Amino acid sequence: MGCTVIVGGAYGDEGKGKIISYIALKDEPSIAVRGGVGPNAGHTVVSQGKTLKLRMLPSAVVNPKTRLMIGPGVLVDCDVLLREIEATSSQERTKVDRNCGIIETRHIQEDKGGHLRETIGTTGTGTGPANAERVLRSARVARQEQRISKYIGDVSLLVNEALDNGEFVLVEGTQGTLLSLFHGAYPYVTSKDVSASGICSDVGIGPKRVDEVLLVFKAYLTRVGAGELEGELSPEETVKRGWEEYGSVTGRLRRAAPFNYELAKRTVMLNSATQIAITKLDTVYPEASKAQKFEELPETARAFIDSIENRLRTPVVFIGTGPDARDIIDRRSATQ
Ligand code: IMP
Ligand code: MG
Repeated sequence: MGCTVIVGGAYGDEGKGKIISYIALKDEPSIAVRGGVGPNAGHTVVSQGKTLKLRMLPSAVVNPKTRLMIGPGVLVDCDVLLREIEATSSQERTKVDRNCGIIETRHIQEDKGGHLRETIGTTGTGTGPANAERVLRSARVARQEQRISKYIGDVSLLVNEALDNGEFVLVEGTQGTLLSLFHGAYPYVTSKDVSASGICSDVGIGPKRVDEVLLVFKAYLTRVGAGELEGELSPEETVKRGWEEYGSVTGRLRRAAPFNYELAKRTVMLNSATQIAITKLDTVYPEASKAQKFEELPETARAFIDSIENRLRTPVVFIGTGPDARDIIDRRSATQ
């Protein structure tokens, strides 16, 4: 089954965690490996009535057989990581690359004030200051952290060996392409590239290793923090449409806007997406709630999906119709 890379097509919070949890249960990856920035990400995973909020571990944690890894490009907050390992009893299947950067208390303090907090509206989790220090080559790295020593390994090697053996590896991106340091609207971006190429580099796989690039969009746009959001709705209109969401890391009310085809076309291009997932279709079209077949969707919702496929020239293979991992339309067999 090779290698699938999952990335966000917008400003983060596209529902990647939900799509990943479904794939983890259905396709049973032998390894799920996290790329992306670090604990500024918040992934919500709902399985069998249990809600998990993850900031460090891969969202594929819902499948107890999947080995969980964090690639060397990622920043680790040891407190958050150890808490999540404990909460999910994942001690025996977690590996952290020895070269991951370490977030320290002073990075978090620096991220909670001044320019970063007031102008950029960061998540305040220390990732920007820690990456800056990493570039200056004065940061601590994971192999120096006694507290996580039993989880340290050579993740890039393990991932490449699994691919050599023909195993299925799921590479989990975080944030979204429009927040990329390189491809977003600087300076209203995160502290690294988070497009598919950046995520591959984070885990140590070359571009020829990748079989599918799955780009995840929500049926509408949301954004937390500062920066442009075309077509932004007023908070009243956001609530009226039932599109209100609160940040899973920051608790902030997310700004919202309708789906934007032009932006989506651009992120399909930047990621060389081969597949698309659309999440929260049931939020925009309540009759779509819990549908598991395309034919069960209301006419308007089907037309929306068709127009995405036509305009982005990429198949929509997953459609999220509710919060649970199993509330999904999986069209892969129908489209391949
Ligand atoms: P930072 O990544 O915490 O430095 O924040 C930079 C910008 O990216 C801010 O606008 C944050 O709100 C946004 N951001 C970072 N991570 C996420 C995420 O996982 N979801 C949504 N927005 C994010
Ligand atoms: Mg999130």
